[in-house]
Amino acid sequence: MNDGTLIKLRGIAKTYRLGIQEVPAVRGVDLDVDRGEYLAIMGSSGSGKSTLMNLLGCLDTPTAGSYELAGRDVSGLGEDELAAVRNHEVGFVFQTFNLLPRSTALQNVELPLIYAGLPAGERRARAARALEQVGLADRSHHKPNELSGGQRQRVAIARALVTEPSLILADEPTGNLDSQTSREIMALLGELDRGGRTLILVTHESDIAAYTRRIIRLHDGRIVADERHGPQA
Ligand SMILES: Nc1ncnc2c1ncn2[C@@H]1O[C@H](COP(=O)(O)OP(=O)(O)OP(=O)(O)O)[C@@H](O)[C@H]1O
Ligand SMILES: [Mg+2]
Repeated sequence: MNDGTLIKLRGIAKTYRLGIQEVPAVRGVDLDVDRGEYLAIMGSSGSGKSTLMNLLGCLDTPTAGSYELAGRDVSGLGEDELAAVRNHEVGFVFQTFNLLPRSTALQNVELPLIYAGLPAGERRARAARALEQVGLADRSHHKPNELSGGQRQRVAIARALVTEPSLILADEPTGNLDSQTSREIMALLGELDRGGRTLILVTHESDIAAYTRRIIRLHDGRIVADERHGPQA
């Protein structure tokens, strides 16, 4: 599916400042991603993958360059505007799930809709639908410690989906899962891809990257390879 450009990065750089020390984490990245693409970002530890993901997800702002997300220049936005873009356009999935421990699966999935200001009834209904979509309708009232690792990640994916974002970002989504559970999570992400979602994931593992259709390799904060390939059967 291709109905236009979702992401346009030009000369994007991020330099962290620690006192007098400057750490250039991302150094001049150009990248175009169309709606509906499914891509993996690979690269060794410290190559800038998480920094780039944070920039893509509007969790952080670049020190140089421009970023257009869904047709809007977001590189110069302030905190509040960025938070609004994030809430509207981006769903996040993390290696460590990042669920609220004392809230049920349903409440965790509802959370982004509370930020979005939706009324309670609609929130509940949409969260329930998202949980159903990830195959967890029967676990809505479980708290994270009453779920398996794979189920926790499904809840996190439901939470990422529930606002119908333009973009889903996943930083090492299978990093804390065994290989069988990783395959199940990748199968679920594959379903979202076939449903037309735009997905970007970070992974160290080439067999995880092989589920996507495009692999970008970072080295020292720069893109050194950008390969497209067919999806894994
Ligand atoms: N908040 C920060 N302050 C200062 N330097 C940082 C900060 N975050 C990351 N860095 C530095 O920026 C560089 C890129 O870090 P980043 O976390 O993006 O790497 P990564 O590719 O995600 O690595 P990993 O595979 O280990 O997660 C590293 O040299 C790191 O030390
Ligand atoms: Mg990282």
